[in-house]
Amino acid sequence: MTATVRVTSKGVPRYSRNERVTHWIVTITFFLLALSGLAFFHPAFWPLTALLGGGVWSRILHPYIGIVMFLAFGLMGLRYWRENIIQPFDREWGKRLPDIINNRDEGLPEIDKYNLGQKQLFWAMVVTMLLLLASGVVLWRDLTAFPVAAIRIAAVVHALAAFVLMLGIIVHVYSAIFWVKGSMRAMTLGTVSRSWARHHHPLWYRRVAGKE
Ligand code: HEM
Repeated sequence: MTATVRVTSKGVPRYSRNERVTHWIVTITFFLLALSGLAFFHPAFWPLTALLGGGVWSRILHPYIGIVMFLAFGLMGLRYWRENIIQPFDREWGKRLPDIINNRDEGLPEIDKYNLGQKQLFWAMVVTMLLLLASGVVLWRDLTAFPVAAIRIAAVVHALAAFVLMLGIIVHVYSAIFWVKGSMRAMTLGTVSRSWARHHHPLWYRRVAGKE
């Protein structure tokens, strides 16, 4: 359960410094992995290996960076899984998607810390991260020695999971930057405005601010 927080003139606290640092470690490692992974996937992307110091270094570093991303995301997963459990009011909210997209907010079910889209994306991230780790270990031929058939299956699983995660992150970044205006400061300054909290996450706002 989230404790009551102090709402100050700076806004409503949403993420601590530790949480934000973890999120940005995941983001940086994700982009390094996505770009070097694309370079391994198709020769057209090979120049991207320059990011990690060339082809050989990319091959060496990619799996280690993957472990860092998995561990950092694991911390996020352990922190946020409870708040991402899908509740009956989330499903009701989801049914009103046309109203939400068209900004007709009257009578919408009240949303807690995350909305249905965020929660679904969170679980998609959890599943793809687990698949990437498991298949990545099989593909890590410097350290492991699995049969060729397993390596082939792992290569397909790794590429598919990476593709789904990349699509998910495109949606995540689009909604954080362009769609839900005012979200970015949650992950930069750590706070959101009261009006943002009341408008997008009224149930969370009342719970953490213990008021209204
Ligand atoms: C440029 C890239 C990114 C931007 C601009 C960004 C932005 C944000 C923002 C603004 C939030 C707060 C949303 C809110 O509290 O309502 C957030 C939360 C979050 N982000 Fe990102 N993010 C990026 C990359 C990533 C990546 C690569 C991952 C994971 C692979 C990730 C995973 C998460 C998770 C798990 C949350 C908590 C939301 C939840 O649990 O449902 N983000 N991000």
